[in-house]
Amino acid sequence: MTKLSPLGLVSALLAFSPSFALAQIRGSATFTGNDHTGGTCSLFNYTLPAGISGTGIGPSNWATGGKCGSCLQVRGPNGSTKVMVVDSCPSCLENRLNLSEDAFVKIADKADGIVDVEFDVVSCGLNSPLIIRNKIGTSRWFFSMQVLNANYPVTDLEVSADDNRTWESTVRQDYNFFEKEDKSGFGKDRVSVRVSCSNGNQVIIPNVSMESEVQIVAPVNC
Ligand SMILES: *[C@@H]1O[C@H](CO)[C@@H](O)[C@H](O)[C@H]1NC(C)=O
Ligand SMILES: *[C@@H]1O[C@H](CO)[C@@H](O)[C@H](O)[C@H]1NC(C)=O
Ligand SMILES: *[C@@H]1O[C@H](CO)[C@@H](O)[C@H](O)[C@H]1NC(C)=O
Ligand SMILES: *[C@@H]1O[C@H](CO)[C@@H](O)[C@H](O)[C@H]1NC(C)=O
Ligand SMILES: *[C@@H]1O[C@H](CO)[C@@H](O)[C@H](O)[C@H]1NC(C)=O
Repeated sequence: MTKLSPLGLVSALLAFSPSFALAQIRGSATFTGNDHTGGTCSLFNYTLPAGISGTGIGPSNWATGGKCGSCLQVRGPNGSTKVMVVDSCPSCLENRLNLSEDAFVKIADKADGIVDVEFDVVSCGLNSPLIIRNKIGTSRWFFSMQVLNANYPVTDLEVSADDNRTWESTVRQDYNFFEKEDKSGFGKDRVSVRVSCSNGNQVIIPNVSMESEVQIVAPVNC
């Protein structure tokens, strides 16, 4: 019988932890001169909240876009700053952030290039409600929706086509839109949408139009 040393047990547990399950992640950060506009999270026409810059995250943390729109507190050698995940970074090493330059200079010297950091998911701290948006081409036959401006990572987006009686799940795509597994629609021109966030809160937005590119401000944030 194999006996795990305490250290072996810890690394075995870590190996099974999903990305971002740990409160605090040790990694590294570099930066890019561009601000990740048009990043993989598809946050087109979304203005980042004041004081929050954008970042790309590497494959080890990407989780099929699962952290898109989430805020991270990043601590570097010279300070700490809050960023929002807006892009992937396919060439990033494990636990590396590809910060926008204006975030990097708040935590390190530009000349350092790459620095060790610690980061964790935090509330974006926004007072404004979350926003839902239909992708171009959305209709009663094709459902595709994203969530913007959520204070916590969005874990689920469900749809009710029968006045809140039953809820159907959707699957997050790599480009940060939630769609039906079979890429169809809900057969209705108006549905209810239920957004779940990692802090356990749910927000229901009733009477949502299934028209292309419709954007709706929810009653609250999560
Ligand atoms: C962004 O906004 C511009 C100007 O309002 C609009 O023409 C464009 O279609 C929008 N793009 C997306 C992806 O929503
Ligand atoms: C960053 O920290 C280094 C080492 O502690 C220090 O030499 C440097 O002046 C700091 N840079 C800024 C912009 O504070
Ligand atoms: C950081 O992001 C920029 C813009 O997308 C990209 O050109 C650059 O290669 C990325 N850096 C790394 C280390 O992947
Ligand atoms: C569904 O639930 C929401 C939130 O509780 C409520 O505002 C809405 O009226 C409900 N819709 C129907 C058709 O009952
Ligand atoms: C849903 O929205 C449409 C268009 O704004 C409106 O005409 C209708 O009365 C709304 N239905 C409910 C139940 O609020």
